[in-house]
Amino acid sequence: MSDETAANETVRVLQLTDPHLFADKSAALRGTVTWESLARVLDHYESSDWRAERVLVTGDLIQDDSEDAYRHFSEALSRLDLPVHCIPGNHDVRPLMRSHLSAPPFDYCASIERGPWLIVGIDSCVDGHAGGCISDDELERLDAEIRGSDANHVLVCLHHPPVEMGSAWLDTVGLDNRELVMSRLAATGRVRAALFGHVHQAYDQEHGGLRIIGTPSTCRQFLPMSEEFAVDDLPPAYRRIELHADGSLSTEIVWIEHA
Ligand SMILES: [Fe+2]
Repeated sequence: MSDETAANETVRVLQLTDPHLFADKSAALRGTVTWESLARVLDHYESSDWRAERVLVTGDLIQDDSEDAYRHFSEALSRLDLPVHCIPGNHDVRPLMRSHLSAPPFDYCASIERGPWLIVGIDSCVDGHAGGCISDDELERLDAEIRGSDANHVLVCLHHPPVEMGSAWLDTVGLDNRELVMSRLAATGRVRAALFGHVHQAYDQEHGGLRIIGTPSTCRQFLPMSEEFAVDDLPPAYRRIELHADGSLSTEIVWIEHA
């Protein structure tokens, strides 16, 4: 997909991640009603001055394997009237997700060209496992998308973090082949940043010249650097991303007050 975005234009993207919706809109995950929490995030975005031209959703859209949860996701996001690029997480049911979220305004693991930027959605999930691994086929698809694009700068979006988080339990359910993936991203010479979900916490560090960015969930957060699973008290959040024409990226997390 290409367009006529001016080469010097900043591309503004809203990242939402890990909404964990249920078929039952009143259902809670660790004490947070996930439907309400996502709605409050969207309310905040809509009432702010900052405007995105598209949305990236980096996985774990649903929690209960149900088609209705995907219908609710579609209903919630449709109100923004923006393209919504969806990437699966370990809690997603990929065939269901693909069938519900492949028609506009939604797409599934698509590649989008916007001026000097190419945004590529990658599937890092493995059936039946919380941890991830990017298949050779998916890595080859990424290389082919980049080779086939004139974009100077690439943003890769995936669910699992491509680096260790320093949290023992989370690192056992991270990306199995993260070292290979990081070397493949660096080898392209054009990937500037990788954006992920899964970890329900904020992360933004440079690794080998690549900006690696993780984003808190629209529902509950996990305690950073924890040896064992632990929930944090931080509220729901979303991320504003601005992709600049020179290949740099500005970003900010917006925290929503607890209900
Ligand atoms: Fe999640």
